[in-house]
Amino acid sequence: MYIRISNISATVGQEVTIKGWLYNKRSSGSIAFLELRDGSGFIQAIVSKGSVTDETWAAAEAITQESSVIATGTVSEHPRKPGEYELQVRELSIVQQASDYPIAHKEHGPEFLLDNRHLWLRSKRQWAIQRVRDVVIQAVYDYFHQEGFIKIDTPIITPNACEGATTLFGIEYFDEGTVFLSQSGQLYLEAAVMSVGRAFDFGPTFRAEKSKTRRHLTEFWMMDAEATFVEHEDNMHIQEQMIVFIVARCLEKCQQELAILERPLEPLQKIHGPFPRLTYTEAIDQLHTLGSDIKFGDDLGNDDEGLLTQNSELPIFIHKWPKTIKPFYMKQDPENPDLVLNDDLIGIEGSGELIGGSQREDNYDKLKSAIEKEGLQGPEYQWYLDLRRYGSVPHAGFGLGLERTVGWICGVQHIRETIPFPRLLNRIRP
Ligand code: 4AD
Ligand code: MG
Repeated sequence: MYIRISNISATVGQEVTIKGWLYNKRSSGSIAFLELRDGSGFIQAIVSKGSVTDETWAAAEAITQESSVIATGTVSEHPRKPGEYELQVRELSIVQQASDYPIAHKEHGPEFLLDNRHLWLRSKRQWAIQRVRDVVIQAVYDYFHQEGFIKIDTPIITPNACEGATTLFGIEYFDEGTVFLSQSGQLYLEAAVMSVGRAFDFGPTFRAEKSKTRRHLTEFWMMDAEATFVEHEDNMHIQEQMIVFIVARCLEKCQQELAILERPLEPLQKIHGPFPRLTYTEAIDQLHTLGSDIKFGDDLGNDDEGLLTQNSELPIFIHKWPKTIKPFYMKQDPENPDLVLNDDLIGIEGSGELIGGSQREDNYDKLKSAIEKEGLQGPEYQWYLDLRRYGSVPHAGFGLGLERTVGWICGVQHIRETIPFPRLLNRIRP
């Protein structure tokens, strides 16, 4: 009976067939311990010279790391590790013998590993990270559907900027000349929610950021959410509920993966709402008392984010930022015309800004002048302004960076490990 390793616990005492690859191998004289992986999990397969055919023993001796293999044998519980299983092999055959697999079970430098990303993905840590990523994606879908949002797909090829002209990737588009890869689906999602009320998108976004940090990719996945008749406070509430939901789901579904990653669970187990809220003005004051020389009107850097969250067990909202350093679409704070009704959610454990959100400017004239002030071309934004002419309503939304979220939950230092094929300032291969 062919089974996948993830289903092995139901087959104790039975003979099963596993199809996969050799992950690691150890032999002691007449016994070979083969660690097999099949994509769904890992299992130790034991081959004893005395109890198998000569062919099977020869295969066990010859098999090399990452050779593909089919193994048949009897499933037993691991004698010492509860919840783990072993395969007592009766028959082993090599599908294809790999030679000189480049990634050995030892430390390699990051550039070497990235050059071999197509193979590095097979290693246990990378396997675990991609599975956590999948669980986070599914959690986002489930959370939003539970809350009455529907998925709306926004375009990737766009004639206009969403997040400022300096980080646009241009592409040549027939007679149109240069158009751009999307920085965020937000503007289109705003149009869609005037039809469906609450919506989210989830797809690749692009930023030509010349930042070489452990938190920046040039291609990353963003989930944008948008809802009508939701204002600033409620917007933050939706965000924190979503984060709480995602973390709980990962704790429930990713125990094996987080153990492989040696991710301490306690910080994740302590995540609950509400998250602390600091206004930008309060954050600047707090940074001054912590010794920072940041000035009112500056963006927060990595160090500032680290200082603000260093003793926090919960992510922190920094909200109501100066209008001058935020994009045109954010709604002016009715209590202070120099500020906007936005929030950045700063993660704990050095994860940085996980979410950027805001209430949107819903007044036609104010939005029009904000667009012009930013030097953006009027005609490309006419359709966006139309939303403020035909039944404008208060609405708000936010964008979650998938890789930063996965990086935090996995406890990995650099987000290049959280996306299957990272695109960085200095890397687009493989
Ligand atoms: O804060 P940002 O720029 O917000 C927007 O794009 C809004 N239009 C979203 C919205 O309101 N619908 O980006 C949102 C999130 C950030 O908080 C961060 O987590 C992630 O996207 N992000 C990046 N992740 C990896 N690499 C980059 N270069 C990123 N830039 C932003
Ligand atoms: Mg932001």
